[in-house]
Amino acid sequence: MEVIDNELSSPQRKRPKSDEDEMDIDLSDDLDTTISYYVDMNPISRGAEATILNCKFLGKPAILKQRVSKVYRHPDLDKQLIKQRLISEVRGIAKCKMLGVPVPAIYFVNEYRSEIVLEEIEGCNLREHLLILERTLPPNEYQYSFCEIALHLGKLIAKMHVGGLIHGDLTSANVLLRNGRPDQLYLIDFGLSYQKEVSEDKAVDLYVFERALAALHDGLEKTTFEAIRKGYESINAEHAAIVYKKLEEVRLRGRKRDMIG
Ligand SMILES: Nc1ncnc2c1ncn2[C@@H]1O[C@H](COP(=O)(O)OP(=O)(O)O)[C@@H](O)[C@H]1O
Ligand SMILES: [Mg+2]
Repeated sequence: MEVIDNELSSPQRKRPKSDEDEMDIDLSDDLDTTISYYVDMNPISRGAEATILNCKFLGKPAILKQRVSKVYRHPDLDKQLIKQRLISEVRGIAKCKMLGVPVPAIYFVNEYRSEIVLEEIEGCNLREHLLILERTLPPNEYQYSFCEIALHLGKLIAKMHVGGLIHGDLTSANVLLRNGRPDQLYLIDFGLSYQKEVSEDKAVDLYVFERALAALHDGLEKTTFEAIRKGYESINAEHAAIVYKKLEEVRLRGRKRDMIG
């Protein structure tokens, strides 16, 4: 266990505001008290961009996401990217909360350590869930079981898109099932998210998810994509028609690219 003390780790936090600070989302400014979080040093995930650890925050089980530096990036660019992704993560989660899309609560942001502390969604991610189903169920039941999730997921993605938010990295590892329940889905990992009212970007979001599913989970394609579409359409049919028309173009471009290599 490591104790991270926010006052010690961010000595500059009382510095005067400059123009540059206008961009900052510094939630620590309003806190007079010292905030500590107790970190279990065994990571639950070590991705390309971030390490995810269990922690306790004000007594609650929580998740600490630490963005890590990349030695191959220029240090200035590295700092800028890490900061940008932290800001996007906070903005994306806040926007989803407003739109009624389930996301973990943000408990704390420590911009000096490029860390964010989030509510822990106990359960598993969709990727893990599907791998278990794949191993334990006969193919038709596996498909059926996933269609229920896909329908629900389609609704969440549509709510997010109708609100003009693009996720930027929709994959089965970025969807969580609270307590393993298919009707309690949460979206996570908003570091590449952005606000844009462009149907092409929404279509690419869906396409990235389709490709990620097809690559990882055998035999899910057709019925699953149809279930996602059904859920997506149920939120706003007019909006869905425009996005799915674009998705046809994006899929076609993808197929051409695959053929050319
Ligand atoms: N709030 C959370 N509650 C529970 N597990 C989480 C939470 N956030 C992340 N995880 C777990 O950590 C994994 C990686 O988290 P993510 O935010 O997607 O980081 P990365 O940028 O490395 O992909 C997720 O797939 C999930 O298993
Ligand atoms: Mg992720």
